Amino acid sequence: MSNRKPYRVAIIGTGGIANSHMDALRAAGDRVEVVAGMDIDAERAAAFCAKHQIPTPYSNLDDMLTVVNPDLVHICTPPNSHTELAIQALEAGAWVNCEKPLCSSIADLDRLDEAEKRTGRFINTVFQWRAGSMAQHLKRLMQENALGKILVGTCLTVWYRDHAYYQVPWRGKWATELGGPTMGHGIHLTDLFLWLMGEWSEVRAMMGTLDRAMEVEDVSMALVRFENGAMGSITNSVLSPRQETYLRLDFQQATVELSGLYSAANSNWRMSLIDGATDETPRQRWEQVPADVRGDHKAQLALVLDSMDRGERPLVSGNEARRIIEFSASLYKSAMTGQPVARGSIKAGDPFYYAMNGKPSV
Ligand SMILES: NC(=O)c1ccc[n+]([C@@H]2O[C@H](COP(=O)([O-])OP(=O)(O)OC[C@H]3O[C@@H](n4cnc5c(N)ncnc54)[C@H](O)[C@@H]3O)[C@@H](O)[C@H]2O)c1
Repeated sequence: MSNRKPYRVAIIGTGGIANSHMDALRAAGDRVEVVAGMDIDAERAAAFCAKHQIPTPYSNLDDMLTVVNPDLVHICTPPNSHTELAIQALEAGAWVNCEKPLCSSIADLDRLDEAEKRTGRFINTVFQWRAGSMAQHLKRLMQENALGKILVGTCLTVWYRDHAYYQVPWRGKWATELGGPTMGHGIHLTDLFLWLMGEWSEVRAMMGTLDRAMEVEDVSMALVRFENGAMGSITNSVLSPRQETYLRLDFQQATVELSGLYSAANSNWRMSLIDGATDETPRQRWEQVPADVRGDHKAQLALVLDSMDRGERPLVSGNEARRIIEFSASLYKSAMTGQPVARGSIKAGDPFYYAMNGKPSV
């Protein structure tokens, strides 16, 4: 048991994913106290608070922030609302744990950075795959060059979402979902991939809307070059009947693979050496994973609370959150213009700086 007072936590947006946040908060035990649930839909807020024994439901954000004064706010609303809600929460003195995708554009990211600097509080993006014990172990092994140089990477999010799924009003539209599987479903594994592979330097992409009646893409494919010389490919699809989330990293001495669907424990990962290899050191290092923690909301919340205890920037924050937003904007720009996009080339004045589809007014 910690000597610290529990962090006072509020949840904004009490729809589907807020339930996973509640499970994670419950698992955090006496480190947290959930003091409010807020939703613009008052009935939904009331039902959620009753279900989870949260003292007070709110339907007005200002009221909630003023009365409750939370230490930490979880943002579980549709993607287009994240930036404004996060800024309001920071201004009220809270840290923020925000669902993916963090924001709508690189322009929004710059505003969030300024708000963090102004308030001295931090925003974490929910990318739970990074919090799994094997993902963290692999990152350390790569930092120590235990498997040789990374050369080739493959990142596949091939999921299935039917027509009914896209009947929810905010889905399938640039203005509210901000994109298709590139910004939604595949963004989890792409974030993990980019974190592991090293800094990306150039992307060439294609996308299409092949089988769902919607504005945004239902499939995207990208080729990526990394600063360390490695090359990678990414596929994001919501059209794939046998669903899988698959990552493959080929190093000089070993291949590492991850296969799963919505989260991964150690058993979802495997490592193979070159056929006939006599040096078992990479395998021994691989097997020294210190724990078996599934990469889920619970694991990532525990890391966020650790960061709050230390008063330090959390893992998926600042430049670590910027990487994927800048990548997504660049992937869309490449797909829509037919040109390769170099990292850092989308700046103020470029339409893709303001909106993922390069149409800021839409
Ligand atoms: N990390 C994951 O694995 C994961 C999984 C699913 C969804 N998500 C993300 O979670 C977010 C929410 O998705 P969902 O499926 O729970 O959506 P949902 O539609 O089920 O719930 C969203 C809720 O937010 C409320 N809301 C909308 N605008 C609001 C505002 N301005 N202030 C307060 N409340 C507001 C709605 O009334 C609704 O109750 C999205 O960003 C989505 O991408 C993440």
